[in-house]
Amino acid sequence: PVVLRGPVLHFTADPGEDITPAPGSVEYLDDGVLVIENGRVTRLGAAEALLSELPENITLYHYPDKLIMPGFIDPHLHFSQLDIIASYGRQLLDWLNEYTFPEEMRFSDPAYATHMAEDFMDEMLRYGTTTALVFCTSHPHSADALFEAARRRGCRMLAGKVMMDRNAPAALCDTPARADHESRALIERWHGVDRLEYAITPRFAPTSSPEQLNIAGRLAQDFPDMIVQTHLSENQGEIDWVASLYPLARDYLDVYDQVGLLRDRSVFAHCIHIDDDIRQRLARAGGRIAYCPTSNLFLGSGLFDARRAREQQVMTGIASDIGAGTSLSQLATLAAAYQISQLQGHPMTPWQGFYQLTRGNARMLSLDSRIGSFVPGMEADVVVLDPAGSPALSRKAARSKNLFETLFNLMMLGDDRAIHAVHVQGRPMTTSAVSR
Ligand code: GUN
Ligand code: FE
Repeated sequence: PVVLRGPVLHFTADPGEDITPAPGSVEYLDDGVLVIENGRVTRLGAAEALLSELPENITLYHYPDKLIMPGFIDPHLHFSQLDIIASYGRQLLDWLNEYTFPEEMRFSDPAYATHMAEDFMDEMLRYGTTTALVFCTSHPHSADALFEAARRRGCRMLAGKVMMDRNAPAALCDTPARADHESRALIERWHGVDRLEYAITPRFAPTSSPEQLNIAGRLAQDFPDMIVQTHLSENQGEIDWVASLYPLARDYLDVYDQVGLLRDRSVFAHCIHIDDDIRQRLARAGGRIAYCPTSNLFLGSGLFDARRAREQQVMTGIASDIGAGTSLSQLATLAAAYQISQLQGHPMTPWQGFYQLTRGNARMLSLDSRIGSFVPGMEADVVVLDPAGSPALSRKAARSKNLFETLFNLMMLGDDRAIHAVHVQGRPMTTSAVSR
């Protein structure tokens, strides 16, 4: 077995919004031991009690003064946009035309796609993210490249080829029929292979013809358990455009609903400009929201109402949305979400933040029986945080009085320097710990 020792923190339930987490929602061991066999958690307990019971043939990773948590999950990002993060000055629709589509055109070269997929997986792991729901480009080989890179690293990964047949450069457009057969071929090739899952991925209503959205809806019907991912109500110009493209639809969500794309396990990125009625239809159908705070600030899209979504029981995850998002770091994503929550008058607690990155995002992807916590049987994807991992964190760590403060420091000041190590299925990916 593989054994990780050190301070351990995980969530077994939603801690709620209070300064004090809901009873029984958080488990913290200041000298804990996590036992992993065949890539899964078999035991978690206090070092004092457990260590003496373990067999001789263990590989021990000792992380004193660090914080061992379930690997972070990112439920919305674009792997093709890694190199266009922080492109100046435009809102969504101009930003897509000016920066995003030209970059995505480079993925017509399979060698480039492979190179970027490898870089992307390395970068994600370097930032402590072990599972993600990813948009590839419209080129099917971009999805092949990402799945291959994830498979070789043993990661649980969900992704799909973008379906897009209009209002984009011709070189990026497929057709309804091509999107259909390319998606089906990718499903055949990758869905359920190792830890990989295919996701049906129409980019958003403006870049698909009604015929193509119908094809996507048919796919969603043929694979009822499969994730559908798209974008919804991010930007006012986008919303007006959808209204003119689909004059018969009641609203933007209705465009998706009419073709069967609003259903359980449909993930809608952004959902900034929505009302109670739309939230209610999302909640009823089991649709989920990917909240992308750094992206929403960067593109000037607006402030997502996380509290209202919670009140109306719409399952919500928190995501980087690279490359409109400004960092792959899910710690940086929390910092932005905190600042937005302050503007809205109810500061997000670090309990909520770290619950969301782990078990909350797992639940939002319907993966909470596999990842997101350290309950025995869970797949052992782990991030080891360093609460003193940068000069600023180190200063704060010296004064930190309790776990709440340590977590809040990481959430506000953390970046890749705060990621000490990552284990995927128990295996170290990047580590400075000594194995013995
Ligand atoms: N809407 C449609 N495509 C995109 C994209 O690539 N990024 C963001 N932020 N919004 C989108
Ligand atoms: Fe996006």
